[in-house]
Amino acid sequence: MGDVIVIAGKGGTGKTTISALLTQMLGRREAGSVLAVDADPNSNLPDALGLGKVNTIADLIEEVVKTPGVVPQSMGKDAYFEYKINEDITEASGYDLLVMGRPEGPGCYCYINNVLRNCMAKLIKDYSFVVIDNEAGMEHFSRKTTRSCSELIVVCDETKVGVKSAERIFQLIDEIGIDAKRKFLVVNRVTGKEDLGGLDKMFGAENIFKIPFEEDILTLSVKGKSVGDLKKNSAVLAAVEFLGEAIWPKN
Ligand SMILES: Nc1ncnc2c1ncn2[C@@H]1O[C@H](COP(=O)(O)OP(=O)(O)O)[C@@H](O)[C@H]1O
Ligand SMILES: [Mg+2]
Repeated sequence: MGDVIVIAGKGGTGKTTISALLTQMLGRREAGSVLAVDADPNSNLPDALGLGKVNTIADLIEEVVKTPGVVPQSMGKDAYFEYKINEDITEASGYDLLVMGRPEGPGCYCYINNVLRNCMAKLIKDYSFVVIDNEAGMEHFSRKTTRSCSELIVVCDETKVGVKSAERIFQLIDEIGIDAKRKFLVVNRVTGKEDLGGLDKMFGAENIFKIPFEEDILTLSVKGKSVGDLKKNSAVLAAVEFLGEAIWPKN
């Protein structure tokens, strides 16, 4: 059973950046197979990883919804989906990537969501690490991907509002009954002004991590470049390494 890492948080907090950096870090470690899953309909993990345009599950779903005839009769929908999903996985250096994408048409996706969850369950068994870059809401997480995870990482910024919203996400996770074995709070883009008073008591200081604001991250994203192009001495890279080391100590 693979280690499932879900990265959640409000839009623009840095989920995709951190997902990409953690994925690359796990890939470099060679501690097992790594699958990155872009579960944000507004997908940009491929760009952060420098992988350009890749096939999405949404495209696959569209294809089947528009032309049901594409499913070979001898195969059945479930088997067809499973086969095609495996085809849609992009292989990169040190890790694989699966992009959910955004289904366009109206209609009921219950059936498809079921199939997707089953496929995810299989992938989670196949890979040692599955890093899920979640959308701002928790819909994907609860309905489409998986209802449990090994590590939940909620990302927020250093503002009071930002930290409050992270607390709300933790509450929501409990309310919808998602089972997260370990929970971490990552305060991203800190400038030194942060006041996280009280949070230590709530989460335990050992579960709170800070990632500094770094101009280079922004510059790369403005240029549409991958976080893989960060300089070796990047403070963000070091902070993510530290986070990874805390979560998965090399012993
Ligand atoms: N530590 C950081 N320092 C500077 N800019 C950052 C940092 N983390 C993220 N960013 C920038 O903030 C923006 C939002 O980050 P992103 O990872 O796309 O957030 P999300 O996936 O949560 O919407 C991007 O332009 C990204 O480059
Ligand atoms: Mg994102």
